[in-house]
Amino acid sequence: MMEDLAMQILELLMNSIHAGASHIYLTITESEKENLIQVHLEDDGKGMTEEFVAKVTDPFTTTRKTRKVGMGVAFFKGLTDMCNGRFEINSRPGTGTLITAELQRDWIDTPPLGNIGEMMMYCIQADENISYVLKYSNDKSDFIFQSDEVKAMLDGVSLLEPEILLWVKDYINEGIEHVKEDLQ
Ligand SMILES: Nc1ncnc2c1ncn2[C@@H]1O[C@H](COP(=O)(O)OP(=O)(O)OP(=O)(O)O)[C@@H](O)[C@H]1O
Ligand SMILES: [Mg+2]
Repeated sequence: MMEDLAMQILELLMNSIHAGASHIYLTITESEKENLIQVHLEDDGKGMTEEFVAKVTDPFTTTRKTRKVGMGVAFFKGLTDMCNGRFEINSRPGTGTLITAELQRDWIDTPPLGNIGEMMMYCIQADENISYVLKYSNDKSDFIFQSDEVKAMLDGVSLLEPEILLWVKDYINEGIEHVKEDLQ
């Protein structure tokens, strides 16, 4: 089973990618003051109807034909329930989807954040044409990664080049580490 938050968020990101999004905004906030981990994920993919959103946290709801049970959303919702948090989906067909999730930061079952750089690397590998914006913040500082900026810097070199992907992963993880260190 997937044990850290990054791998759970990756499931949601993959849904956004499969929904045909061209922009994905992800914000992760760790607040000691509020004792919260907050995840905001916004995409401009195909969206869902109100009825579907109502059912989508049920593991027996999925539009995929190959497998009857879709687990990504239901699992994340279950995790927030388990971690004294909350989970909300706002979606509109043809417009996009906003997912807001919160977990209590020091709750016993709250998983560690995990490898956010690797998570973003998997997304870029899945679709490098999407414009990804990642913001990580805590009470003191923040770090922002924008795939479009990296693309502009690369001047025609593909984001999919293995050394570029690895650079992106490290760049993100180091950026997040710096934000965390600022707290001390
Ligand atoms: N961001 C989104 N935009 C549009 N539709 C979405 C989005 N997220 C989820 N969905 C819809 O909700 C369904 C359920 O998602 P969920 O991740 O729970 O299962 P799945 O993706 O079908 O299967 P699994 O994640 O287990 O491989 C998806 O099949 C999709 O139709
Ligand atoms: Mg899924």
